[in-house]
Amino acid sequence: MDITIENLEHRYQVHSPFERLALYDVNTVIQSGSYVAVIGHTGSGKSTILQHLNGLLKPTAGSITIGDRTISANKKEKNLKTLRKKVGVVFQFPEHQLFEETVEKDICFGPINFGVSTEEAKKKARHAIQMVGLSEDFLEKSPFDLSGGQMRRVAIAGILAMEPEVLVLDEPTAGLDPRGRSEIMEMFYKLHQEQKLTTILVTHSMEDAARYADQILVMEKGTIKLQGSAEEVFSNSERLNQMGLDVPEVVKFKRLLEQRLGIEIPLSGLSIDEIINHVGQVFNRRGAGV
Ligand SMILES: Nc1ncnc2c1ncn2[C@@H]1O[C@H](COP(=O)(O)OP(=O)(O)OP(=O)(O)O)[C@@H](O)[C@H]1O
Ligand SMILES: [Mg+2]
Repeated sequence: MDITIENLEHRYQVHSPFERLALYDVNTVIQSGSYVAVIGHTGSGKSTILQHLNGLLKPTAGSITIGDRTISANKKEKNLKTLRKKVGVVFQFPEHQLFEETVEKDICFGPINFGVSTEEAKKKARHAIQMVGLSEDFLEKSPFDLSGGQMRRVAIAGILAMEPEVLVLDEPTAGLDPRGRSEIMEMFYKLHQEQKLTTILVTHSMEDAARYADQILVMEKGTIKLQGSAEEVFSNSERLNQMGLDVPEVVKFKRLLEQRLGIEIPLSGLSIDEIINHVGQVFNRRGAGV
């Protein structure tokens, strides 16, 4: 399911004294099966874009097409349920929405709401709990007896149990410790790779954007100011700095080596290994007098 966003505009509280233009002129295409990171300063409109992806917010101008469904400003929307089944959204602190007495009931809630039988929903719950790295024993527990990280996983399992085609993540690791963060990020990456899940991640971590995303959208004050691969976006460090954003450590490391060694390292793939390999090759050639 490709996603095409055309001239998207969103105003909050239209026709009120509090009207606020939160998005304008947003244009992008997200290809099916890709991993997209959305970065940008606080208040730049990242969460507002995400909420258009499953019809929680409606454009005030422009349109958004998700697969064969187009949501545009002047059209009445009917039956958003099918769209919401296809696009799973993990909001910040999703565990705040847990409410059932057992983990199993909580995970089954979404699938049952979408018309799946209780038995089938339980099957999906067993599968989903494993996907998030918890054992089936957790299904009988109360979500409120779990640690914060476990609650987060249960809430994510509830989204995965609906078997979405697109997974939208709004700062999904906020508030977790470093180990919990990397475990959850690796879990999403595995899901993306194994199930070809189109993944859209809002993050304040430039490292995560560089590590996982095929495409990065950089938002500033309500619109996309830069977009491209991680290599393209992070080679533009001055522009990013103007927007109050940093570049990942690996890019800084590359730059430092270039200055110290007086060489140029191509920015293809943003990994320390590649940089070291390149430097190794340069020195081997120099040693061989080439
Ligand atoms: N419900 C709302 N009513 C009015 N204005 C809002 C509402 N939600 C967000 N805004 C405004 O819209 C703009 C974009 O907000 P949004 O939450 O999309 O930013 P963000 O990039 O997700 O920020 P953060 O990194 O802090 O999460 C901000 O100026 C914000 O104040
Ligand atoms: Mg936000």
